[in-house]
Amino acid sequence: MQIEKYYNDLNTLHINTEENRAYYMPCSDIENARKETNDRKQDLNGEWNFMYYTCIDDVPEDFKDGNTDGFDKIPVPSCWQTQGYDRHQYTNTRYPFPYNPPYVPYDNPCGAYVTHFESDNDYRKYLNFEGVDSCFYVWVNGEFVGYSQVSHSTSEFDITDKVKNGDNILCVLVFKWCDGSYLEDQDKFRMSGIFRDVYILNRPQKHIRDYKIETDIQGKINIELDSDTDVSFVLENEKGEIYSGDSKTITVEKPILWNAEYPYLYTLYLVTEDEVIREKIGFREIKIDDGIVFLNNKPIKMKGVNRHDSDPVTGYTISREQAEKDLKLMKQHNINALRTSHYPNAPWLMQLCDEYGFYVIAESDIEIHGTASFFGGSQAVTFGLLAQNSDWENAILDRVQRNVIRDKNRTSVCIWSLGNEGGYGVNFEKAGRWVKEYDSTRLTHYESSMWQMEGHINDTSMLDVESTMYADYKWIDKYFENPGEVVWHRVSLGKGSEYGGAGEWINLSESKLGKKEKEQMAVVKPYMQCEFIHAMGNGPGGIKEYIDRLYRYDGFFGAFAWEWCDHAIDMGDSKYFYGGDFGEYPNDGNFCVDGLVYPDRRPHTGLLEYKQAIKPFAIKSYSNIMVVENRYDFAELDDKLYFEVNGERMEFDVPPRGKKSFPRPNGDVVMVKAYQKSDTLWAKKGYEVGFEQLIVNDTVPKLETVNADGSFEVSEQGRNITIKGNNFEYIFDKSTGNFKKLSDAVTRPVEWNMWRAPTDNDRNIMRDWINADYHREQSYVYDCTYDVTDTVTIKCHNALIPVVQRKHMDIETVWTIYANGIVDMQSSVKVGENLPVIPRFGLRFFTKGENVKYYGYGPYESYSDKHLCTYLDEFNTTVSDMYEPYIKPQENGSHFGTRYVETENIRVSSDTPFSFSALHYTQEELTEKKHNFELEKCDDTVLCIDYKQNGIGQNSCGPLTQEEYRFDESEFEFKIRIEIK
Ligand code: GAL
Ligand code: MG
Repeated sequence: MQIEKYYNDLNTLHINTEENRAYYMPCSDIENARKETNDRKQDLNGEWNFMYYTCIDDVPEDFKDGNTDGFDKIPVPSCWQTQGYDRHQYTNTRYPFPYNPPYVPYDNPCGAYVTHFESDNDYRKYLNFEGVDSCFYVWVNGEFVGYSQVSHSTSEFDITDKVKNGDNILCVLVFKWCDGSYLEDQDKFRMSGIFRDVYILNRPQKHIRDYKIETDIQGKINIELDSDTDVSFVLENEKGEIYSGDSKTITVEKPILWNAEYPYLYTLYLVTEDEVIREKIGFREIKIDDGIVFLNNKPIKMKGVNRHDSDPVTGYTISREQAEKDLKLMKQHNINALRTSHYPNAPWLMQLCDEYGFYVIAESDIEIHGTASFFGGSQAVTFGLLAQNSDWENAILDRVQRNVIRDKNRTSVCIWSLGNEGGYGVNFEKAGRWVKEYDSTRLTHYESSMWQMEGHINDTSMLDVESTMYADYKWIDKYFENPGEVVWHRVSLGKGSEYGGAGEWINLSESKLGKKEKEQMAVVKPYMQCEFIHAMGNGPGGIKEYIDRLYRYDGFFGAFAWEWCDHAIDMGDSKYFYGGDFGEYPNDGNFCVDGLVYPDRRPHTGLLEYKQAIKPFAIKSYSNIMVVENRYDFAELDDKLYFEVNGERMEFDVPPRGKKSFPRPNGDVVMVKAYQKSDTLWAKKGYEVGFEQLIVNDTVPKLETVNADGSFEVSEQGRNITIKGNNFEYIFDKSTGNFKKLSDAVTRPVEWNMWRAPTDNDRNIMRDWINADYHREQSYVYDCTYDVTDTVTIKCHNALIPVVQRKHMDIETVWTIYANGIVDMQSSVKVGENLPVIPRFGLRFFTKGENVKYYGYGPYESYSDKHLCTYLDEFNTTVSDMYEPYIKPQENGSHFGTRYVETENIRVSSDTPFSFSALHYTQEELTEKKHNFELEKCDDTVLCIDYKQNGIGQNSCGPLTQEEYRFDESEFEFKIRIEIK
């Protein structure tokens, strides 16, 4: 088929599309508008005829006339890769095609779509596409209608003069790539097709084209209209009508304000002769004062998450039910803010955000990360190539405008984001200035503004907030240390910095920078982390340190977890595929599996951890009182929550962001649980919002002295020391310095254990671990003696040394075996020099049985820096239940702070809390296998008793594990008691 190659043409972004406008849904009258009947919408979703081609050359000319010979059927909306066409590809920053802007490969796959629709009226007909990836051509009844791109924004065509009464043919040709794909290099599976709703709006000849509603907190509604007909307005609150008339300025006495905690909405009807538009609006005002973000004059905290449209079955196509499930889950987990990373969401999704109460950062459909990914390029050298190039100015501006204009009436949108990771330069500066001019009621954000091309001094004056991703908490401390004096400076690309990123710290009074730049830099902007706590795999660890700072610094107003869901492809039979599983190049493996929920939305322990970190209250205990902090910005604590303190119901009347003390019940441990006081859209009354376990006295009881009578028979043969008692037989192996038999309790010799299956957060440190051969440790015993009195005492000096390497661990152990079979182990360990942090240190037992009892942090997996969602208690569970089925297998299921653990026939205890895991998988198996469905169970229960594990951290894409959680001691004592049952 012959067509104009608009997909290679930067000067043709759209043909015959309507001017951008706010999203709305017209109805025939107010009753239908009230019921949301949408009777002027002709839905075109459904089964369409479809044919996939690898190149336009193969598309027959008469396709546009509706010839569907040999075509298949496809659901619209959908992504064709999820329907068996083309193939999946996951790439993060690297472009999936040669970097040759604005051109895309000659062989540019395309999908030909054909459907029919009926028409029987004389209304004007506006054909709407809410999302098509990446660009498309439209024909009605064989006539060319137009062309559009920008995947995640609406394209609207007036097709009135092409439609006839009766049957009509609609043909759409969608290309996989276009020049716009250079601006859509978001970290995601790359999918194509008509992935959002398609419909026709039947509208009277004269109608409202667009409108912009602005409210303030004094109750004023200002409506700016673009209409060729008269409009009157009806305003209702939840109880009924409060205004009707035709004034474009309406004032509501004592308005109920909107915020994420009380998302109160009014309904405005825009009424014309033959059409009514319903608009839900809230009164709220967002502003900055002295570096602090205020909503309705109250400082707020955004505890957010980044969300992609992503589903393992439907891909980018998200139904209202799916979206609402996400939003409900978020609210259930105390999340109050959302960044639409990295493109506009479906327009109706933003309405749900108004209703549920989210502060939204609405992001434009822009990411240009691939410019940093080719040979010789890098984030510090070539990032910003398109941001600076005037050929791309219109395209960038177009994307920013489409985002802002479509969602400008959404109450939930507080911040406009120019996009993600596109570098910086004049094109963004212009776009930013346009936003400020168009909408003075919201804030602006663009994280990539820190990248500065050589020869250009960034103008960031139109950006209201300072934003970074994954900065560690020390960086944040520095940001707030000396505001206005020591500032975070953007440096020219090509120059490094002590932080490895683009910038450096500058002391303004000492710096030689020009006056203008200094002035600009001295403005202290509110700070946010548009991405933090990278939630890949087992993690994130160390969330608390960030949230502490969120509440410590007034200017730190928000942080958004990366990211909401794991992206993967459901292959049936509980099998999920990720990057590389489709044989694609380039691919970025499981880097897309980095969400707080599994692809099917089961919460990860990371989400439970985040929920606790951002719960709307905090409680601390001092002598006999507890200080209750209300972390709601607007709500009285006792308006939202009731508590149970050691099971007894209590209410705490603490004002928003206030603190108040209350008497604390006695006891070493006090459990305070918070419950929702009334039903909400996302949870019933009585839903547990969070808890605080107050450990008032944390002295761990000493192990009891063992008094056991009985006799031993001890014999030595070769490497074995055999100890027989009344009811046990143990064999100690002098070559390993450990037991090879503990009656029938172990099925294999007990091992010294240092390796853990690398978590995704270990992906960097893992290289050091492997280079240090931590997975190849061997025990060498220098000396081993024993003595028999009323106990048997074995003294053993051994080392752990892998092949190739020198000594890693020097271990001196005293083993005391009592006549009743109890074994006490006391090891003094010295760690070799110049070694990477240690994954874990302890013993590994292969034992039997499914039931496990422990006293430690549970019921979920817990680690030194990841145990907010767990509490200290005795738990009865099973080996199978303690396993966390990460899609890419890795260390999981450990329990921190353990005092004792008991499997069917072994009990281990200590007066120094330790960690343990009991799983059906060895760490070797978890290390080796790429997917959870490949894992083979071990015949035994693998019980690991760890003196310690290295913290979990967030280094999959974030700072190193925080110092206090690193396992980097040079010497330590490890003491446990082993009882065989
Ligand atoms: C950020 C980026 C996200 C995602 C994340 C890593 O740099 O903005 O889109 O790629 O890293 O998962
Ligand atoms: Mg990126």
